Amino acid sequence: MAAEIRTPRLILRPPRGEGPALVALLNDWEMIKDTAALPFPFTQRDADEWLAQDEDQMACDRILLRKAVALGESDVLIGAVDLFERDGEACLAYWIGRHHWGNGYATEAARAFLAHVFATTKIDNMRAGIFVENVASARVLEKLGFQVRGEFDIDAPERGGPRRVRRYDRARAASDPPRPAVTKLGGQSGYEG
Ligand SMILES: CC(C)(COP(=O)(O)OP(=O)(O)OC[C@H]1O[C@@H](n2cnc3c(N)ncnc32)[C@H](O)[C@@H]1OP(=O)(O)O)[C@@H](O)C(=O)NCCC(=O)NCCS
Repeated sequence: MAAEIRTPRLILRPPRGEGPALVALLNDWEMIKDTAALPFPFTQRDADEWLAQDEDQMACDRILLRKAVALGESDVLIGAVDLFERDGEACLAYWIGRHHWGNGYATEAARAFLAHVFATTKIDNMRAGIFVENVASARVLEKLGFQVRGEFDIDAPERGGPRRVRRYDRARAASDPPRPAVTKLGGQSGYEG
């Protein structure tokens, strides 16, 4: 498995000991309120836990692959992209620090990550979920070819109360990398898609 995925402006790579940078990026309600699983406030201890999730632990936590997103020129951390398993389905999640929004970074990172997943695994369908107010993320998913599959309500007290979730799917397409004969995502996942 390639440890690094390079795009024109970004590097997707394993997270490193970047705790203070993570806290600076994630201890931000405007960022956290539209994510599903990150704690708020996001403390140094949360950053340590996030960074301590090495690939073996990630498999236990159902996170199959996590890439930190860094700027290509400086290698400065700006976000992350995750592949995780929920209810037997492969799911995509991502975040970009607020000061870097609106530059196309989420689209660029998620597009490269999706191609990597299709190129290295037998996963033929990716799922994603967003809160319906999250128009930026909806736009990212649309640009990546995800299609709306439905909406449902959840109670999310840690995200401000009842929220409506929109579910998206993205099937492997002819323009995507072909399905590999064997999964090469890494020994950590064992996920066969
Ligand atoms: C969602 C998120 C990842 C987007 O990151 P980003 O790097 O700014 O995204 P991009 O620049 O690649 O694309 C954003 C798109 O949304 C559009 N957009 C942004 N804010 C918008 C708004 N308020 N209304 C309509 N469109 C909006 C942008 O114009 C762009 O679309 P375009 O290329 O067609 O112009 C970022 O806002 C974030 O991390 N939010 C918090 C975490 C989160 O929501 N994660 C996703 C759920 S898993």
